Amino acid sequence: MFVSKNLSVNEKGNLTIGGADTVDLAKKYGTPLYVMDEELIREHCRSFKQSIDKYYNGNGLVCYASKAFCCKAICKAMMDEGIGLDVVSEGELYTALSVGFPVEKICFHGNNKTDDELLLAVENNVGRIIVDNIFELERLNDIAEEKGIKANIMFRIKPGVDAHTHDFVKTGQIDSKFGFALETGEAFEAVKKAVSLKNINLVGLHCHIGSQIFDIDPFVLAAEIMINFIADIKSKLGHEVKELNLGGGFGIKYTEDDSPVAYDKYMENVSVRVKELCAEKNIELPFILIEPGRSIAAPAGITLYTVGGVKHIPNIRTYVSIDGGMCDNPRYALYKSKYEAVVANKASQPKNTTVTIAGKCCESGDLIGEGMQLQEAVPGDIVAVLATGAYNYSMSSNYNRLRKPAVVFVNKGNSRVVVKRETLDDIIRNDEE
Ligand code: LLP
Repeated sequence: MFVSKNLSVNEKGNLTIGGADTVDLAKKYGTPLYVMDEELIREHCRSFKQSIDKYYNGNGLVCYASKAFCCKAICKAMMDEGIGLDVVSEGELYTALSVGFPVEKICFHGNNKTDDELLLAVENNVGRIIVDNIFELERLNDIAEEKGIKANIMFRIKPGVDAHTHDFVKTGQIDSKFGFALETGEAFEAVKKAVSLKNINLVGLHCHIGSQIFDIDPFVLAAEIMINFIADIKSKLGHEVKELNLGGGFGIKYTEDDSPVAYDKYMENVSVRVKELCAEKNIELPFILIEPGRSIAAPAGITLYTVGGVKHIPNIRTYVSIDGGMCDNPRYALYKSKYEAVVANKASQPKNTTVTIAGKCCESGDLIGEGMQLQEAVPGDIVAVLATGAYNYSMSSNYNRLRKPAVVFVNKGNSRVVVKRETLDDIIRNDEE
């Protein structure tokens, strides 16, 4: 009935998430409010982990891409589940370190890491630093030398698979700000350099081909290309690349039009091909890392808003105005991303209106969606936007000096605040007169 399986309707006709009544949550914590179902987050982690156990003898690690949704509580949940973490800035790394996240399970990404960021990673012995370019490699070698350590690195490779287009293509990805190109020999030169550097230990290669991908084939193709490169490195340089990080990007269901593939199908197909190719090329099976972000967090989250006004513009459209908007969910403004919405206090009623959900920012493009099916909404109703657990809170802003909403975790019907709502004092905290 809903896009995410943790959502239901109770006897009052109210929408529930993870067993908690969303109308009660809105009353208790106020709106706008991000609500995440911790149980579902953990269930997703387990199913990714189990797919590696089942198809690849457990010879791998799931690293949650924390850019999807990062705060102390989710880092702790990941820790608990034995999951690793992909971080992409000192802020994300600092959050992980603040809860004592096991550093050996952290992958540090970024196409333009600052010296401070590299230093923070080196000083804390982060498990793998994913090096994006040759300048970074040199700077990292210097920093590691200064600190007297050997930094474990992976190279970010552009495998030449562009999965952003509907029909994925094999070329065209060379024009990307991320990583080293294979076709031009840039990646091979970087590997040569890395193996010659005293304070660098090249443990693996990394690729990430896109996000919200439904096809399995581009992932398999990317894995093939990477294994071929690993074989090439071994035969030409005698260097064994032991790890292969295949990134994230697994698609989720935002609306009824989306049909994601079960995760274990992905792992099954990738494992089969990797095993075949490694046998053929006579190389060791690499330790495989995957970095799901959206698929762990998005389906577990919803955002609750209060309806302020409703404007019927005859023959044009109906605007339902909510107390949040592009500040807490910029994805429609940025990508025209589609969402499903429900009037939480009328969840058992039919969706008999077509509306535009508009935010409260001073910006015409501040919309959550257009042409959305919704129950008849009136001021005071609670609107839930579904599958907002990823790239919403993490991409939120203070535009118009709006306060960032609180984040609440629900677990088997109980709820707790994991990120407090910003106060007006937070808004002026860093201002100087
Ligand atoms: N690993 C790397 C190196 C990445 O760059 C990303 C996402 C991931 C893993 C996780 O991908 P996921 O499983 O979440 O698809 N703001 C955009 C998404 C940007 C994704 C960037 N990189 C959105 O709201 O759709």
